Amino acid sequence: MKTEYLQNNADDILRAGEILANGGLVGIPTETVYGLAANAFDAEAVGKIFVAKGRPQDNPLIVHIASPEDLEPLVGEVSESVKRLAAAFWPGPLTMIVPKPREIPDAVSAGLSTIGVRCPSHETARAIIRASGVPLAAPSANRSGRPSPTSFHHVREDLDGRVDAILDGGVCQVGVESTVVDMTGEVPVLLRPGGVTLRDLRSVLGEVEVDEAVTGELTPGRRVRAPGMKYRHYAPKAPVTILDGTIEKVAEYLKQQHNAAVLCFTEEAEALKGCCDHVETYGGESDTETMAQSLFAALRKFDELAVEQIFARAPSAGDGIELAVINRLEKAAGFSRMTVEGE
Ligand code: TXA
Ligand code: MG
Repeated sequence: MKTEYLQNNADDILRAGEILANGGLVGIPTETVYGLAANAFDAEAVGKIFVAKGRPQDNPLIVHIASPEDLEPLVGEVSESVKRLAAAFWPGPLTMIVPKPREIPDAVSAGLSTIGVRCPSHETARAIIRASGVPLAAPSANRSGRPSPTSFHHVREDLDGRVDAILDGGVCQVGVESTVVDMTGEVPVLLRPGGVTLRDLRSVLGEVEVDEAVTGELTPGRRVRAPGMKYRHYAPKAPVTILDGTIEKVAEYLKQQHNAAVLCFTEEAEALKGCCDHVETYGGESDTETMAQSLFAALRKFDELAVEQIFARAPSAGDGIELAVINRLEKAAGFSRMTVEGE
């Protein structure tokens, strides 16, 4: 199929809406990452998403709505906590898991009795949803297993010729996928950290649990609550290892490695230059928002280099967006993490 390239203007937004209303697939910008959208009511259209991405059938999709007011007409009455989160963070990078309405086909929920719903803040994304006249099911617009796309160029790299159109809405501001919170139980559970932080959620809801999958490798056989969290993800082709320890020890360690690249904080670049074949920075050590924004583009860049190993420096844990950065890095690394010790 020949993929149409659309621009961020009124005519092309209408064109995107028309393709979607007719059962096609369109790569669309959002504030988090680019999504690969289809009509959420159309099981056949949704099925094409899984084929285009090479996505496992058991990984459910997020349903995107144009306005917070569209939630109740879609899913029926919602809890007080859902209303409070929507009022505080929508439109924005937050996905809430709620009971699935009958109108949404099983293809979207991968057979689960719940769906994720999100109202994005990217104006173009919302205009495309409105133009299509339906809610849009959309996973990140990468080939399965690749880092999520944060630019038009990334989507084209992964999906050219496999989707009907891609709309260029510039570079994504947040840079990591939305926060996913399960709102179906007594206590809300954070399933995937993102731009709406744990601190943000707790400031509105009080108690919020953190699912094990966020911070640790899943033990085999354990049931996962967000099916997407069990796959090695966001990963460049070469294996990634997170390195902790002082910058001096890390520099020494890197000198002994063969054909390696490192992803580090801006202020570490000087010390690591010359210790390995390529040094890539992704923001200052305390500038976690820039790190989130640059992380996936940096991981993709490593695939253009002929390196055999990638090492990465991770920010220290807290309850802000660094949780999302650490989580995506750990997933890229398949939870391979080591401390370079002193003598
Ligand atoms: O920021 C985002 O959320 C982007 C943009 C396009 O909106 N979308 C995105 O979708 O990241 P995707 O499919 O790559 O990730 C969706 C995540 C997966 O981990 C999936 O397992 C989880 O949300 N999820 C979706 N529906 C769920 C459900 N009903 N219960 C539990 N987890 C669910
Ligand atoms: Mg994804």
